Amino acid sequence: MHQFSLCIYIYMFVLWLTCCLAFQLIIHSYCPLLLSSLSQEEEEEKMLRIRSRIISSTWRSLLPQISSNKFSTHSERKLEGKVAVITGAASGIGKESAAKFISHGAKVIVADIHRQLGQQTASELGDNATFVPCDVTKESDVSDLVDFAISKHGQLDIMYNNAGVACRTPLSIVDIDLAQFDRVMAINVRGVMAGIKHAARVMIPRGSGCILCTGSVTGVMGGLAQPTYSTTKSCVIGIVRSMTAQLCKNGIRINCISPFAIPTAFSLDEMREYFPGVVPEDLTKMLHNTSELKGAYCEPIDVANAALFLASEDAKFISGQNLVVDGGFTSFKSLNLSQQVQERST
Ligand SMILES: NC(=O)c1ccc[n+]([C@@H]2O[C@H](COP(=O)([O-])OP(=O)(O)OC[C@H]3O[C@@H](n4cnc5c(N)ncnc54)[C@H](O)[C@@H]3O)[C@@H](O)[C@H]2O)c1
Repeated sequence: MHQFSLCIYIYMFVLWLTCCLAFQLIIHSYCPLLLSSLSQEEEEEKMLRIRSRIISSTWRSLLPQISSNKFSTHSERKLEGKVAVITGAASGIGKESAAKFISHGAKVIVADIHRQLGQQTASELGDNATFVPCDVTKESDVSDLVDFAISKHGQLDIMYNNAGVACRTPLSIVDIDLAQFDRVMAINVRGVMAGIKHAARVMIPRGSGCILCTGSVTGVMGGLAQPTYSTTKSCVIGIVRSMTAQLCKNGIRINCISPFAIPTAFSLDEMREYFPGVVPEDLTKMLHNTSELKGAYCEPIDVANAALFLASEDAKFISGQNLVVDGGFTSFKSLNLSQQVQERST
């Protein structure tokens, strides 16, 4: 479709150029009588005036079409007029998703516990972003957040429950710190539940809306992170499934996005504890090297693109799903037989 528009644009430009040349030819052939009484300087000046009048009138007729994006090669804006709330949007995946949503015409409430960073992110994102401080473990904060979106914009179309933390408890089940377990559950699970509850409160009366939650590959497969963190992310995937029935009946879609390892503050901070002395660039490389998809690694933009898809009309019949953004990682295991043969022969 856009290629077609571009062709029309090029066609009109060529047409305009041909008209200009033809016009000049006519003037030169039929107007010598008109111009003959003028000096050479006056003649050139008159020609220039005629030419610039043709140019400006042509551009005047083309500009409104160009500015209205009729000939644009950019993709359409998929969230025009939508209002989104994103928790944990001061940095990483949430920030990238906020930027993506805004670039597609949405107004975004950047919600985060980190006030200074949240404020900074909102000003970086521009007029369509507003920062609201919010600790997702406090139900009153989440409720106020949703109410703020309604009072400022009159509606809430997308609720993206993305805030989450890593868990720094020991890996062994016998050493698990249950107080820490409760703290991580409060953010990663209860916080998501609160987001769904209060989004549904305002979406059900409208009979529409889209809820997104950030899970993780660690919630799909065991052994990729500490059991506490994996458990919280399995819960998020489970919550999405269990909420789908009720929300479907009210015209609301809910989906989960489970990203692979991405070197954000979240993962790098945790890795620094396991591998003290390794510089951030090397930690980033280590994470990238875990990718199974040759030539690619997971970045916040991959998750933001998945979120845009699920939040847009493109996914209007998709609900209750867990979109795993992992470059195939959780879909297979290799038997590595040829590697064993190679090892035996060396
Ligand atoms: N980075 C990864 O490798 C990875 C992989 C899979 C899933 N995830 C998930 O993605 C989500 C975003 O993580 P990220 O990688 O962008 O990390 P991040 O640290 O850049 O972003 C997380 C944000 O959540 C905020 N936050 C923490 N506790 C909060 C609370 N109680 N209330 C409100 N906000 C709070 C933080 O201030 C931070 O801005 C998390 O849920 C995380 O579990 C991350």
